[in-house]
Amino acid sequence: MPSLKITTYGNPILRKKVRPITKIDSGLKKLAKDMLEVMHKADGIGLAAPQIGKSISIFVADISPIQEEMAPMIFLNIEILESFGSSPYNEGCLSIPGVVAEVFRPEKIRIRYMDLSGRRHEGMAEGVLARVIQHEADHLNGKLFIDYLSEDALEPFQAILKGLEQKNKKMLARKKSAKTVTH
Ligand code: NI
Repeated sequence: MPSLKITTYGNPILRKKVRPITKIDSGLKKLAKDMLEVMHKADGIGLAAPQIGKSISIFVADISPIQEEMAPMIFLNIEILESFGSSPYNEGCLSIPGVVAEVFRPEKIRIRYMDLSGRRHEGMAEGVLARVIQHEADHLNGKLFIDYLSEDALEPFQAILKGLEQKNKKMLARKKSAKTVTH
């Protein structure tokens, strides 16, 4: 059973840019497997490493709830090389429970990434897959989907966001005082 917990809005790791992955070992493979499990359990279609407290360039995706024929995927060191068009879509995020809003993003993207066997891939993605990839790639850069929303669009969610921030502040304070006592 993976013991990974999903980090929430207000946790500083969600605002940090990750470091690239330079070595694929059994630890990373296990992490990818655990990430898929955590994502499935939470009914998500994408999950990036900062969302489980790791600042490294990996995310998992599984859009089979929307496109049945698609298998789960794992992306390392992704780069978005080009993007085309723009379309709206209702997005949510496992790290920001309770917030769903329409975000415009490019419809089609050209990407380069590495899989878990170290093989490099380059190709196009579109539709829901392109959407998830862009949302997760943003996570790797410390960006969240709510950053795209106007003040008006964010207004109904301010209470939820404040609540999550408070929870994280308390958690950080507890961690700090625990350290002071034990050292
Ligand atoms: Ni997200």
